[in-house]
Amino acid sequence: MNKANVKTRTRPGRKRVYDQWMRSIGVPIYQGHHVADLRSVELAWWEDRQAHAAFLHLKGMEGVSEARVMEIPPGKEMAAMKLAVGELVYVLEGQGLTTVWSEEGGPRKTFEWDAKSLFHLPRHLHHQIYNASGEKPARLLHYNYLPVAMSVVPDPDFFFDNPYQGHQKLSEDDEIFAEPEEIKDDREGPPGIGVYWVGNFFPDLSHWDRLNAFADRGAGGYAIFMRFPDAEMGAHMSVFSPGLYKKGHRHGPGRVIVIPAGEGYSVLWKEGGEKIVCPWQEATVFVPPEDWYHQHFNTGAGAARYLALGPLPQFRGKGETLADRADRQIEYPDEDPWIRETFEAELAKRGAKSLMVPEAYRDRDYRWAYADEKD
Ligand SMILES: [Fe+2]
Repeated sequence: MNKANVKTRTRPGRKRVYDQWMRSIGVPIYQGHHVADLRSVELAWWEDRQAHAAFLHLKGMEGVSEARVMEIPPGKEMAAMKLAVGELVYVLEGQGLTTVWSEEGGPRKTFEWDAKSLFHLPRHLHHQIYNASGEKPARLLHYNYLPVAMSVVPDPDFFFDNPYQGHQKLSEDDEIFAEPEEIKDDREGPPGIGVYWVGNFFPDLSHWDRLNAFADRGAGGYAIFMRFPDAEMGAHMSVFSPGLYKKGHRHGPGRVIVIPAGEGYSVLWKEGGEKIVCPWQEATVFVPPEDWYHQHFNTGAGAARYLALGPLPQFRGKGETLADRADRQIEYPDEDPWIRETFEAELAKRGAKSLMVPEAYRDRDYRWAYADEKD
């Protein structure tokens, strides 16, 4: 090929189109590994969307996933939008309504949401999000895979208010925001809990109690694995008790973790690298970078919950078979003694003691007893 004939708008290796688009909006962009409290982080007005906003561009999200905080003033609504990609919305605080429709004059569906609800906005549907309170703002965390999509189709306008409708045409009978449905997952082998919940709307995740034992990651934890109809993106929430910590593990990029309830910290580290401690409480967000080990610790007085948004299947990483798991997860007897010592020291500062079972540090195959297993 004659090089002189090759013309591209952006030279390979140059800035991603998504990054350029994000910077063009002119609202704050938060970088690093974590943000302590998304409820109080500073935002700026985004006229086109009629909301205060900021982007998260944490290490491990770049080029993969988008997360942005949006705040609707009291008694107001965001501009109506239509996105060509599906989007998850987690409610950091406030209460409101969302209406979706596929064509002007066609059926509309409206649902109510509250603090710590999670909902999925299907691609190609128009939507408008309203703050139901006349006194308090409503703050939302939006999550999608626009960075990947814009690498494939580097035309930002393609993704916003594109008239393409796909097959997502709403009819009067559609109950697209009905209660999530429990689906048995009969694939064999770890990781997993044998059950998915599928739906576009999950109510208050700080109180969701339809959980299943998630034995593989230790600490007697429970989880809900969520799927969204006709979407490849997933999410899950893990719940585990005070005085315990999960096993270190690693996987692909792009997951964004936000805390619905609890207090503790997570440690992130690249193999052989410095350990980074991210303390968390309600509304903390953090991202484990691709192939970095990470481990979650509950130092609070109550159960801790962390909600992981994503991934797409291609970013799940390995860990689907026992052989892979040995490379992706650190069993308690194999961990750096610093992990246990630091946890015990952190608990001691709070007048608490570790409730980790001594046997778990001796036996790689130790499994917590699930005496109160709900299923
Ligand atoms: Fe993880």
